[in-house]
Amino acid sequence: MTQTQDEQKREVAQAAIQHIPIGSIVGVGTGSTANYFIDELAKVKHKIDGAVASSDDTAQRLKSHHIQVLELNNVSEIPVYVDGADEITEHLHMIKGGGGALTREKIVAATAKKFICIADQSKLVSVLGEFPLPIEVIPMARSYVARELVRLGGHPVLREGFTTDNGNIILDVHGLKILNPAELEMDLNHITGIVTNGLFAKRGANMLILGTNNGVRIINI
Ligand code: A5P
Repeated sequence: MTQTQDEQKREVAQAAIQHIPIGSIVGVGTGSTANYFIDELAKVKHKIDGAVASSDDTAQRLKSHHIQVLELNNVSEIPVYVDGADEITEHLHMIKGGGGALTREKIVAATAKKFICIADQSKLVSVLGEFPLPIEVIPMARSYVARELVRLGGHPVLREGFTTDNGNIILDVHGLKILNPAELEMDLNHITGIVTNGLFAKRGANMLILGTNNGVRIINI
């Protein structure tokens, strides 16, 4: 039976709930798939101690469901972080940041013990880079960073009219065929003016819950 993308997103969000430890603080990602997860989390909110949000939008949606939102600095442990991805490989390396929340997503993911990625099957790719790689940049460094990205073989495009939750801009880098995501992630981390790049390879996901036409498929690393 063919399932729509939205049906797959809902199904993976439901499946993720089974992996949330009772009494824990849950790290919550950003985007349309994460939104389905928030709606499912609301149904079991009495079983968790609260949530840490990866964006203002996510915090707002959690609060609208009366789920307590905690400051990351006041939390010592996040057993599980659940988030979507723009692209993910079988090695569970990802491109994220299509919604512009990559920096806070990377921070919450770094803090969490386990990263569960939830995605519909369109997100699974063999090589990352078809989706333009989002890079959050300090505004005054825009031109310098763009030149450095061209040197790396990319075509950076300013995300017009968009400011991140941290007050920065996003450059979306087209034309990259990312064969070694961990290496590129590190190289990008060394360019002055880049706050965060959207490659999640050094800290990839530990589990992928993938929606398919034949139901949910789980890949563990
Ligand atoms: C948000 O900044 C992103 O990293 C999202 O996780 C990613 O764009 C996936 O979003 P969708 O679930 O809406 O595809």
